[in-house]
Amino acid sequence: MSEGTVAPDRRPRSLVVGLREAAALAPSLRRGLGITLLLAVSGSLGTLVVPLLLQRLLDVELLGTQGPDVAAAARLGLLAALIAVLAGFASWRAMYRLVRTAAHGLHELRMRVFDHLHAIPTLSVARERRGALVARVTADIEAVSQFIEWGGIGMLAGASQLGVVAVLMVVLDPVLGAVVLGIATVYAASLLAAQRVLARRYDRVRLRVATSLATAGEAISGLPTIRAYGIEERTARHVGDVLEEQFRTESRTRILGATLFSTSELFAALMTISVVGIGVSTADLTGVTAGRLAAFLLLVTLFVAPVQLLVEILDQAQSAAAGLRRVLDVLDTPRASEPEPDRSRSPSAGPLSVAVRDLTYAYPDGPNVLDAVSVDVPAGERVAIVGRTGSGKSTLVKVIARLQQPPPGTILLGGVPLEDIATTELRRRVAFVPQDPFLFDATLFDNVRYGDPEADDPRILDAFAALDLSDWLSALPDGPNTRTGERGDRLSAGERQLVALVRAWLVRPDLLILDEATSAVDPELDVRLRRAVERMTSGRTSLTVAHRLATAEAADRILVFADGRLVEDGAHHGLLAAGGTYARLHARWSVDATSV
Ligand SMILES: Nc1ncnc2c1ncn2[C@@H]1O[C@H](COP(=O)(O)OP(=O)(O)OP(=O)(O)O)[C@@H](O)[C@H]1O
Ligand SMILES: [Mg+2]
Repeated sequence: MSEGTVAPDRRPRSLVVGLREAAALAPSLRRGLGITLLLAVSGSLGTLVVPLLLQRLLDVELLGTQGPDVAAAARLGLLAALIAVLAGFASWRAMYRLVRTAAHGLHELRMRVFDHLHAIPTLSVARERRGALVARVTADIEAVSQFIEWGGIGMLAGASQLGVVAVLMVVLDPVLGAVVLGIATVYAASLLAAQRVLARRYDRVRLRVATSLATAGEAISGLPTIRAYGIEERTARHVGDVLEEQFRTESRTRILGATLFSTSELFAALMTISVVGIGVSTADLTGVTAGRLAAFLLLVTLFVAPVQLLVEILDQAQSAAAGLRRVLDVLDTPRASEPEPDRSRSPSAGPLSVAVRDLTYAYPDGPNVLDAVSVDVPAGERVAIVGRTGSGKSTLVKVIARLQQPPPGTILLGGVPLEDIATTELRRRVAFVPQDPFLFDATLFDNVRYGDPEADDPRILDAFAALDLSDWLSALPDGPNTRTGERGDRLSAGERQLVALVRAWLVRPDLLILDEATSAVDPELDVRLRRAVERMTSGRTSLTVAHRLATAEAADRILVFADGRLVEDGAHHGLLAAGGTYARLHARWSVDATSV
């Protein structure tokens, strides 16, 4: 199973490109960056002035030709201490600002990505495992956040310190400065090469993290099924394997990072030895003093420290870049095509007619699920759609509700092409009750309110009464405040449909699309559902995917599907008399109904 399906045409981004794009998307990432940079640079500059003052203190005030000047030395010492304190403060401020910016900016980015996930076609989302998608707004962003908060400040401070120290070294001693910069350049070039390998490794790590989250999440949400089939051990082994694979990929990558880091020790040693060796052996020629060599060595230490820091950050940076790539990939996936507002048209008020014109539909990379379907449903008609499992019934109604995009011109609501209706208008006029409604982990009333956030409790109570469900509601343990559990787990499939029906009632739709639950419902609930549907469908156009005899019998008209084609179209009695597909389906239903 591939986790990279949200953006099939991914283009690889480097960390710099990624951060620039992220900053464009989340402007607060960039806000005040200039001041932060200034603070970081002044912090490292301040730290650097200290060794220079010390050199002066040694060479001039204490070991100078005019003998030691203790008062001047004390003044210089005091100045050095003051600068050190100010530099410390500036560095702390820079760090504080960066942490705050990262928190704000990444929050903004996370919201953007989350928002976008809701706007891209449901099919693109459905192709990626949920846990892996969740990873994109959690673990992947977290990797970026860790880098910005800890690596970002190090990088800013380190790079500015490197720059300043390099200049100081060249000014203090051009020969030794050139030696240091030469070694550093060779080292930097080899690091850049290693970094490319690290980047690829971290892409794999992020993918493994996503797979782990998806697999573990699935094993948790599938717990009842796992128990029912007694496959706990097999599942645990599978999850264990996936986690082990993540651990192995991650540790291999970290070892590479650590190896890179240890080369920086080598670099530091080589640097010191070269400077001391060359400095001492050329002392006669260059006339370097003990104080100057000591100050230079101090500068070398100050040069090596940020290099080591940067190598350490390199590892974090590649992890962040890999995370950022996965986050930004989501934003590369085009949003579901929304009609242009100036082009959008509204069907006239009242019940909607539905026209399907030669509709052929296939899921991506799949065979045709609907094949040249044409049908006209006048406004106000109560239509049942029947057919064997897999015949394309749910697909047809999802396409009519524009939950999946049909080819343009194949569906008209109230005479207006579906793609010309604005989304808000469509959702206001068309209510869709899915085969397996999703409920949020909230109270019953809160779940109903997803139909209309403005609806107050009395209105919801009225809705229950209107659908003849008041007694069902009052029989629940906590009435309106009954918690529905995650995904609505605490209710049966039939009860979830009841809740979804009330939700749809609040919309007062001009077209109701209902995909009946397939799972068996007890006779009492069956009667309730039927009554609720009956009330719901009266006076409006309705398309009901029927899995029950009674629903089909109650319809004005029945559409019979087989293998994605509309094979029969008529009223109950006529279709029964014709003795075709419907008659056979009906015979089977009757047997099932009497055997319950
Ligand atoms: N998201 C999807 N991606 C790919 N193929 C799909 C998807 N959803 C459904 N299909 C395929 O489309 C075909 C029709 O499915 P559909 O859900 O429309 O059938 P149905 O008539 O509603 O069946 P049932 O009576 O069991 O609800 C099936 O062969 C199914 O495998
Ligand atoms: Mg179905």
